[in-house]
Amino acid sequence: DKDGYKHFMAKEIAEQPTVLSAALSAYLTETGIALPDPGVDFAKVDRLTMVACGTAYYACFTAKYWFEQLAGLPVEVDIASEFRYREPPITPGTTALFVSQSGETADTLAALRYCAGKAERILSVVNVPESSIARESDLALPIHAGTEIGVASTKAFTCQLTVLLVLALKAAVDRGRMTEDQLQDVLASLRALPGTFNAALGRGDDIRDTAHELAEARDILFLGRGLMYPLALEGALKLKEISYIHAEAYASGELKHGPIALIDQSVPVVVMAPKDSLFEKTISNMQEVMARGGKVVLVTDAAGASIAGADAWKTIVMPEIREVLTPLLYALPAQLLAYHTAIAKGTDVDQPRNLAKSVTVE
Ligand code: M6R
Repeated sequence: DKDGYKHFMAKEIAEQPTVLSAALSAYLTETGIALPDPGVDFAKVDRLTMVACGTAYYACFTAKYWFEQLAGLPVEVDIASEFRYREPPITPGTTALFVSQSGETADTLAALRYCAGKAERILSVVNVPESSIARESDLALPIHAGTEIGVASTKAFTCQLTVLLVLALKAAVDRGRMTEDQLQDVLASLRALPGTFNAALGRGDDIRDTAHELAEARDILFLGRGLMYPLALEGALKLKEISYIHAEAYASGELKHGPIALIDQSVPVVVMAPKDSLFEKTISNMQEVMARGGKVVLVTDAAGASIAGADAWKTIVMPEIREVLTPLLYALPAQLLAYHTAIAKGTDVDQPRNLAKSVTVE
């Protein structure tokens, strides 16, 4: 039931404040973080290996930044189809974590089976608690996104990010990298996230207007730095899946190592740049793009827009949010840009060509 929405994807995008609340209440108590039994003590984890496909992989890639920066935990991330055949050595003290909405993705399941008996422990972050990946894990952490029908994953992505961030915060505390006060401070912002997300949903009109122009493009680039790099990759995937426009994402700093050769007046460049600690660096990359005639869609907050918005072709303004939570909020403009571009192109948003919701063959 689409609940009055034109597409499941639109419904699932709009459901995010509700399902994010559900994911948060499953893992946060009044006073802190609570994982289902037997829990995880990250003080005993030497290395975390995260494996997934597609959007779930981008959730893992985002979480790598969190685990490394917040918890000082060495993290390896990989796509399951490469990991499973590479014969990667699994060192003692390694915890392996598999992320999958369906819990049935063939490559991810095979990667899990490769790690079984080698890794100290197998964790999974899944939407379907009775799935194969959940059943074969030592601890399965459900994301509480509810059934996701749109082939393009939206609410599962933000719920995966939520659970992964909670795990990274737990790791930071377990490993003595975060004080109780610092934890409480981040948890307060996290509890406010559904409200902030809801406020952002109300700003969808600018995104729709921009998307109508993007629909004319043949190629679109996404740029981001730090936490916005994995999100740029997710934005490009979402756009190509449902609008069939060729989209690529690059880490902003990689631009001058090749991709800048692609820039001309016909290539819109979506720059994901909240006014965070890396803002100035990203904006200088944005200026390099504009100097070559590239049309920049700047996705930022009010502070970022007041500094760099005037130069951009289009500016999309998100509510302010603390840096560590930016991937959760900036997923929304990435999803809405893809959605409205696809609508403008008249594609089948919920059932894009050649794609299946669950990829159970390799
Ligand atoms: O069910 P899974 O999370 O394991 O699926 C992984 C990918 O197939 C999935 O995320 C795919 O990339 C989506 N269509 C992305 O929107």
